[in-house]
Amino acid sequence: TKIAVFASGSGSNFGAILQAIERKELDATVELLICDKPNAYVMERARQAGVDSFVFQAKSFSSKEQYERVILEQLQSKNVEWIVLAGYMRLIGTVLLTSYEKRIINIHPSLLPAFAGKDAVGQAIDYGVKVMGVTVHFVDEGMDTGPIISQQSFHVQGDMSRSVIEDQIHFIEHELYPETLQQLFTKKGVHMVNANERMEE
Ligand code: GRF
Repeated sequence: TKIAVFASGSGSNFGAILQAIERKELDATVELLICDKPNAYVMERARQAGVDSFVFQAKSFSSKEQYERVILEQLQSKNVEWIVLAGYMRLIGTVLLTSYEKRIINIHPSLLPAFAGKDAVGQAIDYGVKVMGVTVHFVDEGMDTGPIISQQSFHVQGDMSRSVIEDQIHFIEHELYPETLQQLFTKKGVHMVNANERMEE
């Protein structure tokens, strides 16, 4: 399965996906990294791994439609089948949503629908929840709102600092994301059946 990863930041999930491919736990190839931040560390990871990247700056375009058309050309030139968002800090627009219907996935560091949007971990800590987790979901036009594919939770112990919580979340993400992608690509797994049915409605 040919995928493109979209990322804006450090790219630890991008790295985890590459590792899972290397270990043959994920049957996919990362054809392209799409990045909207030229200085993001994920660009360095792509260079080191020999993954092609396409970097753009949204402010150089007059609209989301304009830059997504350019991204779409890049994706099509590499025959990309699935779009995998991993810390991509922009909403996906109509151009990509219509061209990759039911083929765009995101990972979010909370148990959705709780704490959508930015700084989900901070929101959850401020709220004082005792169970936190990670969600993988289909992307729609909303912010972290598409049908849920998989989730994993953990209990927050009283003495967990923010950085320990963040480490725990990343640890879960790095296993859950490749695993969920593999299930999606091989059409296995019970928890994704519901999501697909909902997508077909
Ligand atoms: C992850 O926590 C992911 O859930 C969220 O953005 C973060 C990206 O982290 N969408 P990284 O860049 O993969 O390290």
